[in-house]
Amino acid sequence: MGTRTFRTAVVRTPDGPGAIEIVDVPLREPGPGEVRVRIAGAGVNPVDLAVAGGYFHSLGLIRQPHHTGLGWDFAGTVEAAGPGVDLAVGTPVAGVLIGFDRDFGTYAEQLVLPAADLAVVPDGLDLVAAATVPLNGLAAAQVVDLLGDAPAGADRLLVTGAAGAVGAYLLSLAPERGWRVTGLARAADEDFVRSLGAGFTTAAEPGWDAVADAANLQEQAFALVRDGGAYVGVRPNARPAADRGVTVAAVDTHADGRRLADLLTRAATGELPTRVHAVLPLDRAADAHRAAAKGGVRGRYVLRP
Ligand SMILES: NC(=O)c1ccc[n+]([C@@H]2O[C@H](COP(=O)([O-])OP(=O)(O)OC[C@H]3O[C@@H](n4cnc5c(N)ncnc54)[C@H](OP(=O)(O)O)[C@@H]3O)[C@@H](O)[C@H]2O)c1
Repeated sequence: MGTRTFRTAVVRTPDGPGAIEIVDVPLREPGPGEVRVRIAGAGVNPVDLAVAGGYFHSLGLIRQPHHTGLGWDFAGTVEAAGPGVDLAVGTPVAGVLIGFDRDFGTYAEQLVLPAADLAVVPDGLDLVAAATVPLNGLAAAQVVDLLGDAPAGADRLLVTGAAGAVGAYLLSLAPERGWRVTGLARAADEDFVRSLGAGFTTAAEPGWDAVADAANLQEQAFALVRDGGAYVGVRPNARPAADRGVTVAAVDTHADGRRLADLLTRAATGELPTRVHAVLPLDRAADAHRAAAKGGVRGRYVLRP
């Protein structure tokens, strides 16, 4: 019997969407603590566009000799469980695969990963919607961890990019730690931002106790923080210099199956918004990248193998 293979999207020489190729790679069985997932949907995230465009190669963070895998989050069903994993074949799961320097990704028919990095998808949440939650839900939850509890009397938080994936989750999660949240977004996003219970602005004045910079506006967002306040960014490898007593942090999202289970439960009840812009076949990953790169897309493109 020949080697069993599956299809996956990779880049060999990064050069934007045109560099994305679909290749066949050998299937492997899950080892101890691992599962193999049949992927039902993989979200197209800004980081994928940056990988395909060579940004992380240029930073020296990707050194794959043959090809680099694309895709960070996914939902699907358990196809095989390794020793020590108590998940039945067919269980719906979602998860995130962290890291730039890898020859495999979630834009694929199959994926092997540690069971601890995924969570069961609850009833009431379909797999395409679930595929949009892991990376950006965890990123937002971990930004909130970096913000911590709002200090008494200094609880005004501005979220930039509030209509984006990370930003919208922040609007939902930050109030639990006492923050009074205002979202900075485009004028057309006002109803969406307010529907999540946040205040809204298209042009914030300086003086915020904290800014969570989900639009990655960097110095422009840092300038909106009051002296002695807090700035939390989304690019650990590029952040504004600390100044004026403002603390500067940036999220470097890590997998956390337990936290993800909670986020998926909230998504199933509608407490966290899941927004799917369009579902495209895996073969059209390059088209999804081209469309996402234009900006203005609300909700994720999800690739279906
Ligand atoms: N470090 C980590 O671990 C981590 C994890 C997840 C995400 N991230 C990063 O977090 C960022 C957000 O990701 P995402 O998935 O939420 O992206 P997204 O869905 O594209 O959201 C970004 C939002 O910001 C808006 N925006 C950009 N410039 C703006 C401005 N000047 N004023 C108002 N709104 C503005 C965009 O609107 P338009 O579309 O109209 O421009 C969009 O709605 C990305 O840079 C991503 O790479 C980092």
